[in-house]
Amino acid sequence: MAIVEEVAALKDETLAAIEAAADTAALEQVRVGVLGKSGSLTGYLRGMGKVPPEERAEVGKTVNAVRGAVEEALAARKAELAAAELAASMDASAVDVTLPGRVQQLGTRHLINRIADEISEIFLGLGYSIAKGPEVETEYYNFTALNAPADHPSRGLADTFYVVDRSENAHTHVKGESDVLLRTQTSPVQARVMESQKPPIYIISPGKVYRRDVADPSHLPQFHQIEGLVVDEGITFGDLKGTLEYVCKQIFGEERKTRFRAHYFPFTEPSAEVDVSCGICHGEGCRFCKGTGWLEILGCGMVDPNVYGYAGIDPEKYSGFAFGMGVERIACLKYNVPDLRMLVEGDMRFLRQF
Ligand code: DAH
Repeated sequence: MAIVEEVAALKDETLAAIEAAADTAALEQVRVGVLGKSGSLTGYLRGMGKVPPEERAEVGKTVNAVRGAVEEALAARKAELAAAELAASMDASAVDVTLPGRVQQLGTRHLINRIADEISEIFLGLGYSIAKGPEVETEYYNFTALNAPADHPSRGLADTFYVVDRSENAHTHVKGESDVLLRTQTSPVQARVMESQKPPIYIISPGKVYRRDVADPSHLPQFHQIEGLVVDEGITFGDLKGTLEYVCKQIFGEERKTRFRAHYFPFTEPSAEVDVSCGICHGEGCRFCKGTGWLEILGCGMVDPNVYGYAGIDPEKYSGFAFGMGVERIACLKYNVPDLRMLVEGDMRFLRQF
């Protein structure tokens, strides 16, 4: 067969193969087979030297024309296939807006913080403001300025975490030489506020406190308290009772009863503990309230004149009351949770209920 006919046949074959290529990869294979380094048409171009001189012009023209036609057909088919492939990939990655979305795992406010905020809101509503004090505190503010005697058992190493223990001046009464500890109560904020603010004082102070206790159903080595302090002219025990009865009803509900029991705290005189009636047996006596029908929720009393002495407030002119409540205890008593440790174990099945 003459070269010209061979090339014409190659053209028909190639154009058919281009048309039949199903994707851009197959098309590229066709191109390499014809126009690549060792492609069939390239072979003819390279072999021109061997073509007899009288045929060379015609063969050359034909081969070039075929190359042009093949290149054109390749470009056209490539554009077609690329567009189809783009459309297919867009279809494949399209978002189905009718599918239900994935639910975001949002956290919830922790019960301890929620109760602390709820109690704070009640006092803010009564016109109190919030005071802050350090968790790493001096023995002076945690004990001495609160009228705790030098040999008070809670000052001991067995009950308190000491950060700096200068045991040579054990339990000093001197402010500047004080040991440093993790506060065991929020009460030192009372002493700090009385030192830095003039009466009338109406504050609460929520925060963390620390004690050397092993965690058990009713103890945690770290927990939260809310301290309260009022100092003003003419404040009486009646104001203390009225305020705390109102707050207890706000926290626990109108149907829960409260009672005041005489007690002792170094920084208040007289002092009392407040109980709320048991939410499980409603005062009958059950395991939760250890058969008494009552649950202790806070300590309180009238500020001791000795405490005014440390702070430089005139006890002849002013009087006041103070109280301190445990937030974890109140949370458990409100929701009848039998074990304080459940609040800090981080079990989401428990925490999500609140
Ligand atoms: N700080 C006491 C405690 O941790 C609680 C307390 C009792 C606070 C009487 C007071 C108070 O302000 O007046 O046990």
